[in-house]
Parts: sequence; C-alpha cells; structure tokens
Amino acid sequence: MTEFPKLLESIDDLTSQQIHSLISLAFHLKSSPSLGPPERNGSVLAAFFENSTRTKYSFLKAAWQLGLQGSDFPVEKSSLAKGESFGETLKALYHQGHGALVVRTPDENFFRPFRESPPLPLINAGNGMAEHPTQALVDLMTFQELMSSPQEKTFCLVGDIKHSRVAHSLTKLWAKMGIPFMTAGPRDWRDDSLDVPHALDIHEAIEGSDALYLLRIQLERHSGPPMNSEALAQYIQDFGVTASKLAAHKKCPLIFHPGPVQKGVELDGEAMNSQAYRGYDQVRNSTWLRASLLAHMIPEVRHGPWPL
Ligand code: CP
Repeated sequence: MTEFPKLLESIDDLTSQQIHSLISLAFHLKSSPSLGPPERNGSVLAAFFENSTRTKYSFLKAAWQLGLQGSDFPVEKSSLAKGESFGETLKALYHQGHGALVVRTPDENFFRPFRESPPLPLINAGNGMAEHPTQALVDLMTFQELMSSPQEKTFCLVGDIKHSRVAHSLTKLWAKMGIPFMTAGPRDWRDDSLDVPHALDIHEAIEGSDALYLLRIQLERHSGPPMNSEALAQYIQDFGVTASKLAAHKKCPLIFHPGPVQKGVELDGEAMNSQAYRGYDQVRNSTWLRASLLAHMIPEVRHGPWPL
C-alpha cells in the first residue's frame, strides 16, 4: 500500500487500496470491542470553527477507542483569537507532541497551505461547501455492512447536491469505487459536473434505486434571497420522503442521511422511525471508521494490536 497521506482533505487524496484498508480495519475494530493499550502515546485534537455533533464527538470517541486521548480544541479560547496564524498553531501542537488535528472550517481553501507537508496529521472534518471525506468513508462502510456489494446496487442522491460537502465527497467516492448512482432534486441544486441519470421527483428516485441518500437543504450556504415558504413546500412535495410516499411503491429502498435531519422536510417522522431509515447505522459506524483513519494516519498508532 502506498504511504498514507498526512493530510486528508479530499477523497482524491486516497487510493482505492487505502480505502479498502480503512474499511477493513474499521470492521476489525468494530468486532474487537476491548482495545488497548490505553497508555499509547498520542492525542487527537478537534478544532471546529463550525458547529457539529456527529463528526466532532465521534472523532473524540474514536481516539478513546484506540487508547488515545481525544480533546476539544476550542478555537475561540486559543491563541488564534490573539491573531496567531493557523500554521504557527500547527507547529506549536506538533512540538507539544499531539498525534493529529481534526478541523472543521467554513473556508474551502483552509488546507491549501498545508498540502505539501503538514507538521502533524491533519484531517478535514468539513471545509465549506467543498468536502467532508470522512462522512463519505463512514457511509461506504455502512453501505458495505448493510448491502454487502454496493457495486451491484444503485444509489440516488436526493436534494441540495450543489451546496453539500457530503455530496461532493460521496460522489467522488462512489465514482472511485465503481458504485452506480443517480441524482434527484431541483434544477438549481444539481451538480452539472456529474454525468449520471437524474430523477424528476422522489417517486422516480424510489423506483430507480436501491437506496436513497438524502441531503439537508444547506440554507446557510445559499447565495441570493432566502428560500421562501412556497419554494420549501414545493420541495417537500416533489422530493420529501414520507411514509405514505414509500407505501405507494412495491419496493422500499434503504434511506441514508448524514444528519442532522430536518424532520418534515427531507424526511417525515414516520419514515424516520421505519426499518428503511439507516441514519443511526451511519452514526454507529462513524466512530469505528474514524478510529481506523486515526490508526492509519498517526505513525505511533499504526503499529498497535491490529492488522495494519
Ligand atoms: N454529518 C455531520 O457532519 O454531522 P455534524 O454536523 O453533526 O457533525
């Protein structure tokens, strides 16, 4: 396997072999719940310039699962607030001996200065509209677990594709791993770089796919006037998933969502409580996949009691 990257900014940074290795170790860790050793050298810091529940706390739990210490790095209380650059901050953290830094930022270009040689392993936990590579990797693990051969299934990515960093990583990952997919959603939110079939409404999406991957409307990333109530109602009618819409079809696809779900918009409460909804499987797998990633990226951890 080629050397694992020291900066994970994009799905483009990983080879197919590295992705297979990540997923394989994640399953191994998931099936070996008592891991050690707790005294392992290294710590993982999470610097989040935007809010998060799933990503931040799954990274902290993942560190703990490997016997590392995971700590929040509250950016507003750090010397960044005194004007210190992020580059200097990284060097200080490296010389303190931390194992890795996980960053969420609204800035799509945030990682650019560190592409050549980051002082310590650096992981993109979402950068603006650009990418959210670890969410896509968590999802791939979940697809493999629930659908065994996702390459033989068709996924439909539904909603605000253009403004979604999850969508940008996921479509790269699906293409890289040979997983067929289509899209559905309003014209203005399509990604014109994708040469895949497009469903005109949620009924076509349900008929044409084995799994729906729903996206939150990224209102905070829209330019122009805010979405009005008529446009929202039209979106819900055309692309919202409800239990009654699902019941109108003989087949019922699995339903994935990276969270947080806007209940009553992309998915109603009844559909969310059904067997079809697998969002909590994604959350459960997130700690194992991220533990696998940390084990691949932190040199001191690579040689732990796991097959790497
Ligand atoms: N999926 C995801 O990124 O969720 P959070 O914003 O809660 O981290």
